[in-house]
Amino acid sequence: MTAQPNNPPYIDGLLQRLANGDSRTAAAFSRHVHWGYWEEPPRAVCTPEEYGEAAEHLCRVLCNTAGIDDGMRIVDVGCGFGGTIASLSERFGQLQLVGVNIDPRQLERAAELVRPCGINSIEFVQADAARIPLDDSSCDVVLAVESVFHFDRAAFVAEASRLLAPGGNLTLSDFVPSERAAEYLDAIDFSADEAVQWSYGEIDLTCSLDRYRELAKANGLRLTKAMDVTENTLPTYKFLAASASDWPKSREVELFTRATSLLEKASRKGMLGYQVLRFEKH
Ligand SMILES: C[S@@+](CC[C@H](N)C(=O)[O-])C[C@H]1O[C@@H](n2cnc3c(N)ncnc32)[C@H](O)[C@@H]1O
Repeated sequence: MTAQPNNPPYIDGLLQRLANGDSRTAAAFSRHVHWGYWEEPPRAVCTPEEYGEAAEHLCRVLCNTAGIDDGMRIVDVGCGFGGTIASLSERFGQLQLVGVNIDPRQLERAAELVRPCGINSIEFVQADAARIPLDDSSCDVVLAVESVFHFDRAAFVAEASRLLAPGGNLTLSDFVPSERAAEYLDAIDFSADEAVQWSYGEIDLTCSLDRYRELAKANGLRLTKAMDVTENTLPTYKFLAASASDWPKSREVELFTRATSLLEKASRKGMLGYQVLRFEKH
């Protein structure tokens, strides 16, 4: 399997494990590639099957926040294996769904696995999040489920606003630093950390809510909802640590474990929140 430029390294590992028939990976990540959401985190048992359900739950939290309903045109940017598109197609019967990703391998998998239900239409498009080949004002909802930290955020917010019809919304999930965290996060400098780069690739975890408000304002959008769901996502770390301890020992696994534990520490200290954000187009 050839690694693709601009593609996060964890996707390579995931595709490799799926190709090798790794059942734990298949149960947890066959359609969603993001953190899980647990209504009652202390009761999480973190089996792969439960993780898959928790990932579906997070996807539904975003889609519900976006207020998706039949008749809408939805674009999911950084769509991964098409899990959110699949979930929407199962829950609704009359949506126009477009999944966008930079990586053709993920789109190939999505196109194989995701079929439209009802009279939904589904299209997968290879493009960068900052240059999406769709018309101005052609969508009601733009989604970005845990992918925006890979993008040029400012360019993406401008692009999402261009795509949205008036009254439409951009709903995304992201790791958002708390206002008091700037110093702490500068000291850690996630993006320069070798383990983080090796495992998660180029990521930017420095966009605070204030910065998001500025980006929104500059692009004709308004932040209308910010839900901090950090607590609900924390069992993700237990699951990822258990998964990594199952994999054969290697430098890659060691770096993944270190990078993920950095993220966990920052989240548990309240420095980095997992937020679901909704922006409305004027
Ligand atoms: C954590 S995964 C989330 C995938 C999917 N949203 C999900 O929730 O299952 C981040 C995704 O963003 C994609 N991505 C990274 N940079 C991108 C870019 N510049 N344009 C489009 N997609 C990108 C990656 O290939 C990956 O599929």
